Amino acid sequence: MIVISNPISEIIIIFFLLFGLAFSGDPGQTDLKFRSDGTFKIIMFTDLHYGEKTLYDTLNIEAQNKLLDFEKPDYVMLSGDMISGYNEHFLNESNYRYYWDTLTKPMRDRNIPWSITFGNHDAEGPYNSAMLMDLDMSYNGSISKKGTVFGVGESNYILPILSSNSSDIASLIYIFDSDNEGCGNLGNWGCVYKQQVEWYEQQSDFYNKTPAVSFVHIPPIEVVDLWNNNEVYGDFGESASCCYTTTESKFVDTIVERGDIKFLYFGHDHRNDYHGNYKGLDLGYGRKTGYGSYDPKYTQGARVFLLQEKPFTFKTWIRNVFGDIEDQPLHKPSDQIPMYCCAPEKFNPNWVISISILGAILIPQQQSQQILNKVCLAGLWNLLGS
Ligand SMILES: *[C@@H]1O[C@H](CO)[C@@H](O)[C@H](O)[C@H]1NC(C)=O
Ligand SMILES: *[C@@H]1O[C@H](CO)[C@@H](O)[C@H](O)[C@H]1NC(C)=O
Ligand SMILES: *[C@@H]1O[C@H](CO)[C@@H](O)[C@H](O)[C@H]1NC(C)=O
Repeated sequence: MIVISNPISEIIIIFFLLFGLAFSGDPGQTDLKFRSDGTFKIIMFTDLHYGEKTLYDTLNIEAQNKLLDFEKPDYVMLSGDMISGYNEHFLNESNYRYYWDTLTKPMRDRNIPWSITFGNHDAEGPYNSAMLMDLDMSYNGSISKKGTVFGVGESNYILPILSSNSSDIASLIYIFDSDNEGCGNLGNWGCVYKQQVEWYEQQSDFYNKTPAVSFVHIPPIEVVDLWNNNEVYGDFGESASCCYTTTESKFVDTIVERGDIKFLYFGHDHRNDYHGNYKGLDLGYGRKTGYGSYDPKYTQGARVFLLQEKPFTFKTWIRNVFGDIEDQPLHKPSDQIPMYCCAPEKFNPNWVISISILGAILIPQQQSQQILNKVCLAGLWNLLGS
């Protein structure tokens, strides 16, 4: 205990204590909280791709409105590619505010808090992710937090969900930022780095392994193992999953080992919507919600998560824009040829080596990687790889 003899310093200390207390909360931000029946509902809007065509934007708004009315969630996770940042509309910078007004209106109209994590396309225009984060956080309904961890990303943060009974933290939502294009050999479209996994470990210790759930935009490579070697529900509708390797970061291994995060969901591959049990972790895709960019295999919709506080459990389903809850088909590993990841180290060695040697001679590495990625996306992957 500090003994204070001077009354003036006492006043100053009291002032700072009060000042500190006043700012220790999160003024203006509502805390997430389990309902009195012990449940908490999350809806995941992924790959909205606003800012391509007026018609698509109109359909997006309609989709968001319908899905929110069907499900009445407590919180909305916008899991990346909210906008098509590459579109020329964004060269007019006032359009950022316009599109953000548009894409957040369905939530603002209903007083439902939301938060974001970045995809690979959001920051492809004049606004970088830091500016986009400031823009999002300027809305009262946004509970996003600016979070750079060890120099990586802008949208790494944790949202606590309070107990239905008290102001104790009952559960956590971990949001990871899969950064921008250009993750070296880890994954072409973005990745989660080792530093972010270290941040997660620190936080998980700090919160004493409080049960948690998590979101990121780009899938880790384990999602391909999951499809190839486990029973899953849903579909693989792409030519390959555009995922990143985790050999170095140990992203998924660490989550599995610690056991506090119960699921990890992502978007990015618009035509994939499967999920399954990967070593005890529920791993999987949401459903593409938006009409911009290429379409989902089935209709637009959203993945929903119903969390139960005590004991911590959850259920997940896909609700589509027609209002149906989809019965995702069971897929067994023996049903198909194995699928692959777009990350270079997982290319079929025979032809990749030849192309790479040729590429290394003729074109700079950055470009050859982009070409390989395009080859993969164009579906030549399966043709050559099988
Ligand atoms: C809330 O408190 C009641 C009464 O103490 C208890 O029975 C119930 O299990 C608690 N619910 C949760 C979700 O902790
Ligand atoms: C830029 O976009 C805003 C709407 O967001 C519009 O009012 C304005 O006219 C546009 N400016 C130009 C130069 O096109
Ligand atoms: C946000 O909330 C504050 C305080 O309640 C209010 O003054 C402000 O107008 C709100 N801003 C918006 C954009 O709704």
